[in-house]
Amino acid sequence: MPESTPPTASLPVDILGRGPPLVLLHSFPLDRRMWKHQHSLADIVELFLPDIPGFGGADVPTAPISVEDVADSVARMLDVQNVRDPIVLGGLSMGGYVALAFARKYPERLRGLILADTRAEPDDEPTKVARTKTIALARQHGSAGVVRVMLQKLLGPTTLRTRPHVEAEIEAIGSSQKVAGVIAALEMSRERPDSTPGLADIAVPTLLIVGDEDEISPLACAQTMNAKIRLSELARIPGVGHMSAMEDPESFNRTVRAWLERLL
Ligand code: MLT
Repeated sequence: MPESTPPTASLPVDILGRGPPLVLLHSFPLDRRMWKHQHSLADIVELFLPDIPGFGGADVPTAPISVEDVADSVARMLDVQNVRDPIVLGGLSMGGYVALAFARKYPERLRGLILADTRAEPDDEPTKVARTKTIALARQHGSAGVVRVMLQKLLGPTTLRTRPHVEAEIEAIGSSQKVAGVIAALEMSRERPDSTPGLADIAVPTLLIVGDEDEISPLACAQTMNAKIRLSELARIPGVGHMSAMEDPESFNRTVRAWLERLL
């Protein structure tokens, strides 16, 4: 494994509302703006929406980083914001990879987990090869080239057919990312460890969400986590793909809100 750089000192973060802390970690290749439709949850929680290193306003790592490094950055952000109470931590896809690393490193800081359209398994060999090709694509065509190629897979057929604004939103956020940040995240995801063995150690209530049309982290990935995490439940959202929180924010928020109201 390459030597990791220390996590950046302080992540940029939007903070909304008052109540028990809920931290949401964005997916690749986006930033904290992807959660704008989740701001309404801030009537029952204090919402923390950080940028993961390399994205949005966060510093670009100067050396390879791991999901554990990013988990450290999230813990440091909580310290900086003086959040001492255990948090509910949610992550979508890449955000979920980091949330699982955080659950391993900081179990005492967790009150609950939300894992949306993500997986515990590491990249298999074909996916690692595809990541390396995407890194080359990023070098040649920038973050706009990466997001353009990814869009057809990120979004479900229903969204591609009926919700053009989602495509435009993802393209705008994804194209604005710095290429070096996109490459650092691709390398991080490619090298991430298998989180499956740690699933049985997760002791907090966990909400698993998956879009029925998600091709990147399909239902089977959520079912594997559901079988291994003791206090988990699985919610499927029809008519959406990998970007469930953006494709159908109403259903996503309703699912999260109902679960939070039981938890908190
Ligand atoms: C994401 O949505 O964060 C990415 O699809 C994750 C990945 O590339 O593994």
